[in-house]
Amino acid sequence: MAINKDAASKAMKLKTETLSPDAKGLRRAERILSAGGLVAFPTETVYGLGADARQGKAVARIFEAKGRPSFNPLIIHVANLGAARAYARFNDAALRLAVAFWPGPLTLVLPLREDAGLSPLVTAGNPTVAIRVPAHPLAQDLLTSFAGPIAAPSANPSGRISPTRAQHVMNGLSGRIDAVLDGGPTEVGLESTIIGLSDTPVLLRPGGLPAEEVARCLGHDLEVAPENPETVSAPGQLASHYAPRAMLRLNAQTAQPGERLLGFGNTPGATLNLSPSGDLHEAAANLFRHLHRLDRDTGPIAVAPIPRKGLGLAINDRLERAAAPRP
Ligand code: TXA
Ligand code: MG
Repeated sequence: MAINKDAASKAMKLKTETLSPDAKGLRRAERILSAGGLVAFPTETVYGLGADARQGKAVARIFEAKGRPSFNPLIIHVANLGAARAYARFNDAALRLAVAFWPGPLTLVLPLREDAGLSPLVTAGNPTVAIRVPAHPLAQDLLTSFAGPIAAPSANPSGRISPTRAQHVMNGLSGRIDAVLDGGPTEVGLESTIIGLSDTPVLLRPGGLPAEEVARCLGHDLEVAPENPETVSAPGQLASHYAPRAMLRLNAQTAQPGERLLGFGNTPGATLNLSPSGDLHEAAANLFRHLHRLDRDTGPIAVAPIPRKGLGLAINDRLERAAAPRP
């Protein structure tokens, strides 16, 4: 039961525990986090790689385990709006969105409070902080019993496909993290929608909450963050991201010789289909799982067209990054 306190030097040698989704597993997860360890846990979007957001060394281990460039700030996860207010200042628009959509797949980027007490690594030195209240019952239980902010990026090696199952986490990070809390497959399957609210509301990353719903709640259209790799404020904005090893060709009606076909709706000859009935929620939930399955092989992948509305916006965003030229 020893907990790895100085894991930096042992990052490659850990024996990653799989924790059960019950009181015992939660207690163990909480202890590891308190001791400065890393625990992957399910949210309704994707699995997150959690550390105590107040412990600099613990947060540093996240970057090390993921191989993540350290200029990328992290989202903190808290149990509810009341807890979130200890870390950020909420204006009227922020409050309205939090009340409407939390808990849920929405992250708000807000001005950081001076007395927040977060490790500066979490915000990468920015005067803003990204906050989310996940809806998954296990994440809620963990946040309530831990009673502190958990910094958590998606639990995958940097630049690779996000995990929607505990097994995906193990495949990417086994030996580099202390534990994974196994809560089965995630429901939404796409990361949270990120809205910047330090100034006028801006869509920083499309995600599991359709941008149309956010705009409807605010009563006006959302600005969309310009894509500038020099001023990346969300690495979902980096060109190559969410990438399988194989090359992807998008908007393909049929597969060319040697290609495997990822279908949507009626797609004859599809190797896998995101949603045979053309349902965007089902497609979102299946996206990363199907990419993980196709990633077991290296042959090229053709992807059928997916409409750019509702969750289709976020699905196309992820596919375009997966298809982008690699650094
Ligand atoms: O659904 C999700 O959001 C998942 C689960 C685990 O919560 N998390 C997730 O984290 O996708 P990550 O680190 O893979 O993506 C978080 C994004 C990054 O693109 C990061 O740059 C952006 O949020 N971000 C974090 N803090 C920010 C800040 N202060 N300003 C602007 N963007 C920020
Ligand atoms: Mg990620």
